[in-house]
Amino acid sequence: MAIRKVGVVGCGLMGSGIAQVCAEAGYDVSVREVSDDLLKKGLGRIESFLKKGVEKGKIAPEKMRDVLGRLRGTTALADLSGSDIVIEAVVESLDAKREVYQALDKACPAHTIFASNTSSLSITEMAAVTKRPDRFVGLHFFNPVPLMKLVEVVRSPLTSKESLEAAYAFAKTLGKTPVKAGDKTGFIVNRLLVPYLLDAIRALEEGVGSVPDVDEGMRLGCGHPMGPFTLLDFVGLDTTYYIANIMFEEFKEKRFAPPPLLKRMVQAGLHGKKTSKGFYDYSQDPPVPTAGLV
Ligand SMILES: NC(=O)c1ccc[n+]([C@@H]2O[C@H](COP(=O)([O-])OP(=O)(O)OC[C@H]3O[C@@H](n4cnc5c(N)ncnc54)[C@H](O)[C@@H]3O)[C@@H](O)[C@H]2O)c1
Repeated sequence: MAIRKVGVVGCGLMGSGIAQVCAEAGYDVSVREVSDDLLKKGLGRIESFLKKGVEKGKIAPEKMRDVLGRLRGTTALADLSGSDIVIEAVVESLDAKREVYQALDKACPAHTIFASNTSSLSITEMAAVTKRPDRFVGLHFFNPVPLMKLVEVVRSPLTSKESLEAAYAFAKTLGKTPVKAGDKTGFIVNRLLVPYLLDAIRALEEGVGSVPDVDEGMRLGCGHPMGPFTLLDFVGLDTTYYIANIMFEEFKEKRFAPPPLLKRMVQAGLHGKKTSKGFYDYSQDPPVPTAGLV
């Protein structure tokens, strides 16, 4: 199963990073978005990341040209039909992903492996809408994709050994460190990380400590690179809320239940860094804790 051509569906935060690392590793990459505007935005994100690398002397200008030359943007899903592997990074909605896989299944040849970057949805459930559940895996990258080393390679009960090994080897060719995980909601990292993040919010609700004190506690007491509230703001409170709900639905365990404060913050549009306000207010430099949360 030689992989030469890569298709990426979705050129948002994750899809653009995935397309970038694949092109950097020498693959020909076709990336699909739903509109020209979103495609331009996604490809622009890649270009500005690479430009910063050139400015800092980390990337040679010729390398940047080569990487951009290997990337092709499209709004037609059919343009991904020549891919040996297609990595899907569209919004975290089962309906949206199912629709993509049904269309891809018709467009791609039998050998093409499908890989979902889902954080919390079932690989098995998505694979079931295709005629190739044996060539269907999860490839869970981490944000920001060009910098984070880990990829979780997820097998469903229907994934063949060959496809799993091909996806694992592919992740290595991207310079990533793959780990294997079963198709259990949240896989390895979110299974452990999400309850920890939710517990930090519960601790805040219960008055155990302030936002900066909890963050400082975990940074200096446990050697974490950032505290839970900084991390929550970085991941996005809306995304965390969505994932927690899916995990709670799956396991029916309190540790996965989103605390009321998280729900209220999402309802109020305090989604973290991307909306410039979450547990911290990023309109200030340096950011300050957001007032009036508890
Ligand atoms: N944000 C994170 O930290 C993170 C980390 C790991 C995994 N993920 C997963 O990656 C996936 C994407 O998340 P994101 O943060 O990049 O979201 P995002 O909203 O930044 O990007 C999603 C993109 O998909 C596009 N899209 C929607 N339907 C499409 C279709 N049919 N064809 C092509 N493009 C389509 C949207 O226009 C959007 O640009 C989700 O499954 C998410 O759970 C996210």
